[in-house]
Amino acid sequence: MKKTFPEGFLWGGAMCASQADGAYNEGGKGLDTQDLRYFDADWSAQERAMNRNRRMNHAKFQKALTDTDIEHYPFRWGIDFYNKYKEDIQLFEELGIKILRTSINWARIYPNGDDAIPNEEGIQWYIDMFTECHKRGIKVFATILHYNIPVHLVTEYGGWKNRKTAEFYVKYATTLFERLGTLVDYWLPFNEFNAGRFNPYNGVCLVEDEEKDYDSAVFQCLHNQFIANALTVKAAHRIIPGSMVGGMIARFTTYPATCKPDDVMQMILDDQYSNWFYLDVMARGKYPAYMERYFEKANIHIHMEDGDAEILKENTIDFVAFSYYFSQVSTTDQGWAKTSGNLIMANKNPYLESSEWGWQKDPVGLRITLNQIYDRYSLPVFIAENGLGAKDILENDGTIHDPYRIDYLKAHVQQMKEAITDGVDLIGYTMWGFIDLVSCGSMEMSKRYGVIYVDRDDRGHGSNRRYKKDSFEWYRKAIASNGENLD
Ligand code: BG6
Repeated sequence: MKKTFPEGFLWGGAMCASQADGAYNEGGKGLDTQDLRYFDADWSAQERAMNRNRRMNHAKFQKALTDTDIEHYPFRWGIDFYNKYKEDIQLFEELGIKILRTSINWARIYPNGDDAIPNEEGIQWYIDMFTECHKRGIKVFATILHYNIPVHLVTEYGGWKNRKTAEFYVKYATTLFERLGTLVDYWLPFNEFNAGRFNPYNGVCLVEDEEKDYDSAVFQCLHNQFIANALTVKAAHRIIPGSMVGGMIARFTTYPATCKPDDVMQMILDDQYSNWFYLDVMARGKYPAYMERYFEKANIHIHMEDGDAEILKENTIDFVAFSYYFSQVSTTDQGWAKTSGNLIMANKNPYLESSEWGWQKDPVGLRITLNQIYDRYSLPVFIAENGLGAKDILENDGTIHDPYRIDYLKAHVQQMKEAITDGVDLIGYTMWGFIDLVSCGSMEMSKRYGVIYVDRDDRGHGSNRRYKKDSFEWYRKAIASNGENLD
């Protein structure tokens, strides 16, 4: 029985292109869908909360296409990792991480998405950045798509609704395998597959009021992504024999609100529709039977092509990844109190405390999830994101005291250890936003996850200098002791 983290456990940090890189129009990059998301630092807390549903409409989309303003589009500036990566990776080495998870920006490789040849400047930037990681003893976990696609694919082809986008995506992924294959250790074709259902602009780039049958459009996009995912697994295995390609969801761990059988059944349905469906297709290679009833009831129609079933069946993933921030409860009681959670509004659990953004903190839920996922798929498991979004204070002497973050991380790492003892084949943990970056949901810089502080505010103003928070030293020691020293 294993009682400790295995040797070679992949302690790491996670970030992504749109929230960190900035430099939205440098290096030959095309405009991407996240570059179009508007934010105003003068919005009230209520306005910020309302904006969190991340839905895009026609008017906002059209305005953003030609808007040259930068301040109100936080994904255009991020933390300027594009220009600062060398000094940042030096700091990552000091932290001792074994692996960096970040995403490749499709619009840096193929600025329009349908270009005949790739942008060499974009490819070179990734070669340089990944080489820098390896020079400093850091492996690379590359997300091929963390939400943002070249805008041209939306305006010209209708984005993921069009099967052609899946073809362009496979071409893009193939280019990455051919050109960056020796520099990447783990591949993830799609960030949080279920985001398409819960945040359709982010996940599948749909502009809501342009759709007649919105729900069917969402599932058509998801089907095209499933096909793109399977063909990408196939290409990776052909071009890089032995490569590890994962599938990821945002995990909404849920418990029945009561032991009333209806609540227990509701929990099973919530799990199936919100989480398992996505992993079942990618890991088991087919649409699960329970979705037939769901599609019929919701009047959802998906166009599938001949041969799609075989594509899904023959190209399943090598490991399961997930993000984990909170848990919720399942109930048939429509009046049950609600709170925010990652991507969804969650049902409140009276036994849990919440973060400043209302996300319910539940370390034991992480152990539960790890057991559930490993039991279900018997594949290696990777925690691709976990962390606490909080407001931090940069003191005059350059220190940041964040005991709340240390408590959160420590409690979750302890539960990971329990899960390993339970027998789960857990291979890695990449803490989300280990260097502060722009929040995906609320687009605030002030919602910080990092053990490294970035001096930038919600307007993008500030020195953009990096500082170590107290949690930096905590994580450094945890990694150096392979999870033994958590004090
Ligand atoms: C995940 C995303 O859903 O949650 C990240 O993959 C995101 O991009 C993270 O940043 C935390 O969410 P938020 O809204 O607090 O940034």
